Amino acid sequence: MKKITILDMQEMKAEGQKITMLTAYDYPLTKIFDESGVEILLVGDSLGPVVVGYDNTLPVTVEELIYHTKAVVRARENALVVADMPFMSYQVSIEDAKRNVGRVIKESGAEAVKLEGGQNMAETIRAITEIDIPVMGHVGLTPQSIHRMGGYRVQGRDERQREKLLADSLAVEEAGAFALVLEAIPTGLGEEITKKLTIPTIGIGAGIHCDGQVLVSHDLLGLFSGPRPSFVKTYCDLKEIISGAVRRYLEEVRAEKFPDEEHSYH
Ligand code: KIV
Repeated sequence: MKKITILDMQEMKAEGQKITMLTAYDYPLTKIFDESGVEILLVGDSLGPVVVGYDNTLPVTVEELIYHTKAVVRARENALVVADMPFMSYQVSIEDAKRNVGRVIKESGAEAVKLEGGQNMAETIRAITEIDIPVMGHVGLTPQSIHRMGGYRVQGRDERQREKLLADSLAVEEAGAFALVLEAIPTGLGEEITKKLTIPTIGIGAGIHCDGQVLVSHDLLGLFSGPRPSFVKTYCDLKEIISGAVRRYLEEVRAEKFPDEEHSYH
């Protein structure tokens, strides 16, 4: 496998090859994901609810994001690592955004950042790409806007929202982003945006026509027991496998079957 860069994303879209992306937060799982051949590893601010136990993504700090991204960067060999900028690390001013993004890239070793927003973030995206830091956009359901959206709801269902999402997507591309995450929008709108943009779209609940797909890895693996949106497909039940193993260990210790001869020194 060769090292993936942002240039491969453009090439894959041009050749109609689907892009795969997964969230990653730690060393051991990142090793497995990277060896499996995934192209992009996103250190998502979903680490808040999924790994740290916060109610949502809003409390995640730049320090937490850097800590997890460093572990991911140490474990991966080939995938492109994208760090997800936490809430309020890029919204206050362009200067503040550049300082925080620069810090994340410098301290964590990630090769790109992701930030949420469309036309409202276009100037910020432009300013960051102008200092040569690649940016991935994110429109549709943007979890950092949970309070404005009144919860995690499908976006772009009515004509006004549809028009706005199209304009937001074009603004992100125009500002210089190298890819765009589309979250929780109807399949038809995902297709329309994907056809209109020259940069690749990565869908999560945005239908089959996007140039690539992303899932939160703990959802895919059945490790997260919080509420799961209907677009999530769980490919295995790791929670059940882990609790089965732990129950067997507890039983064997209590029954004095572990440690046995094989697992003891003489
Ligand atoms: O934080 C995250 O995991 C994300 C993905 C769902 C795209 O933003």
